[in-house]
Amino acid sequence: MCGIIGYIGKKQAYPIIINGLKKMEYRGYDSYGICVLDGDSVFLKKRVGRISSENSESECKGCISIGHSRWATTGSVCEKNAHPQEYNQFYVVHNGIVENYKELKEELIKKGHQFSSDTDTEVIAHLISEEFKGNLEDATKKALKKIIGSYGIAVISPKDKGKIVVAKLSSPIILGITDDGYIVASDPSAIINYTKQIITLDDNEIATLKEDSYTISKDKKIETIDWESDAVDKGDFEHFMLKEIMEEPRVIENAIQGRLLESDVKLGGLESSKERLKRTNKIYLVGCGTGYYAAKVGEYLMEEIGIIDAEAHMGSEVRYRNVRLNPDQTAIFVSQSGETADNLACLKKMKEANVLTLGVTNVIGSTQTRETEGGVYTRCGPEIAVASTKAFIGQITVLVMISLFLGRQRNLEEKEAKKIILELKNISKKADIVLKQAEKIKEIARKYSQYKDFFFIGRKFNYPIAMEGALKLKEISYVHAEGVTGGELKHGPLALIDETCPTIAICTKDSVYDKMLSNIEEVKARNGKVIAIATEGDSKIKEIATDVIYIPETLECLTPLLSAIPLHLFAYYFALALEKDIDKPRNLAKSVTVE
Ligand code: F6R
Repeated sequence: MCGIIGYIGKKQAYPIIINGLKKMEYRGYDSYGICVLDGDSVFLKKRVGRISSENSESECKGCISIGHSRWATTGSVCEKNAHPQEYNQFYVVHNGIVENYKELKEELIKKGHQFSSDTDTEVIAHLISEEFKGNLEDATKKALKKIIGSYGIAVISPKDKGKIVVAKLSSPIILGITDDGYIVASDPSAIINYTKQIITLDDNEIATLKEDSYTISKDKKIETIDWESDAVDKGDFEHFMLKEIMEEPRVIENAIQGRLLESDVKLGGLESSKERLKRTNKIYLVGCGTGYYAAKVGEYLMEEIGIIDAEAHMGSEVRYRNVRLNPDQTAIFVSQSGETADNLACLKKMKEANVLTLGVTNVIGSTQTRETEGGVYTRCGPEIAVASTKAFIGQITVLVMISLFLGRQRNLEEKEAKKIILELKNISKKADIVLKQAEKIKEIARKYSQYKDFFFIGRKFNYPIAMEGALKLKEISYVHAEGVTGGELKHGPLALIDETCPTIAICTKDSVYDKMLSNIEEVKARNGKVIAIATEGDSKIKEIATDVIYIPETLECLTPLLSAIPLHLFAYYFALALEKDIDKPRNLAKSVTVE
């Protein structure tokens, strides 16, 4: 939930750290801090608030530095709790949580240590100081043995000059190799302006970085990230969220590129699992939040196209449930970051039961991609806004292709596969048509922006899209919104419908169209206003809905790729009308690496 960064090399570190923290601000934005070493002198700066207004011009020399953007977990938001945390000239930045910090703190206090913050992280600095016998790496290694929890840390000290020690357990750490030195960060977005060459640390690994060399406990492969550097800039857009929504058609194109044959799909990441996938008789799809809603779309896709039983689960639930697991099952983990703690805990459980594990992931080198046996990248590029939009579209596109892969191993007819593939190749143009209605959607969002409660309804493929639309609205506007299936309305939620509670109904021309029309009538009969997402050319809907947003006609199974877009735009413009902090909604941070 926090962002850590470090630089060591030939350049002045300060601007690199400040710029990197700005790129990672979405990971945490309540406070930030930086520590720069220049020989024996130490520059330390900690501030409450956003780093965006911080000037990156050098305030100090020094080519070794660590920095942190915080999203408070242990200890309130104040300067003393911001990182780097320090004790006895050992400076630590930390992403994760030290679960046994209270016990450790008590022991250290008994030994005479005095603490100056309320954070769990400070105990790491104290432990390192306790263990220090002249070598920072040895001391860090010993200190970490006492810690229960998760960490991505970077440590520096004038007592062992010329190095940064980094370590990882269940929180990401990436090492970037540049021409003039090394950058470590929680996230590639802080690195890609400087280098595309990265090494990803694995759990329990420690690395020591010096100006012109690095050592890691074992030999590691250098990977290349194919993200464009300008992808982490807003360009002319007011918010990252709008930029990312506008990228949705390109996300579909990138995801399918080189992967579609005439009636089959070619997914390199599934090649080695081909035989096991053939034997698989059940698919679990696991995700959290928006990732879960994509997984839910995946469940319907697997049943319909993949011709296989499928169940979507939230990572936070299934990890504690007694689902019957066996090696003839496959679990597909759906995640933008690939670092979501609940998914990773579930992944461990699935692996222990010998279930085949696959990832649908955006971030290259993330824990999910390394811990799963195979998978397919969504290729969305960095997603910076806290609210996930383009990643959702990328995830659904990939899940369509995985379903096709499974279907072709089973009884999905060549003719049917061909039809879906052809439409998949064309659908980005249709997504562009939806985006052209941005101004109209903005007007509608503004019209409804004073309402405080919303229902989103949809059926079948559009049921998860209703939940996604509701999540997006509540997340960035802080108004109450619920996504339910049209069929469930009369089993309870209808009691809340009146003229003060509008309903957004996804009512496209598909197998449940008539049922959705009846649901809309139910809402209208209670004086509820209805904003319909409908198929182009549907004039009937105009007569019953208060407002209509049209999307082009497509195959039923691909509808989510179009119907999600107006809901993303609606949420965005709604929050804009309310002047909310769209890219950084209150109480939330991207990449939930704690449970
Ligand atoms: C919603 C949102 C979250 C994430 C969820 C999972 O807009 O962004 O619900 O979808 O925290 O994150 P990932 O996809 O990184 O596993």
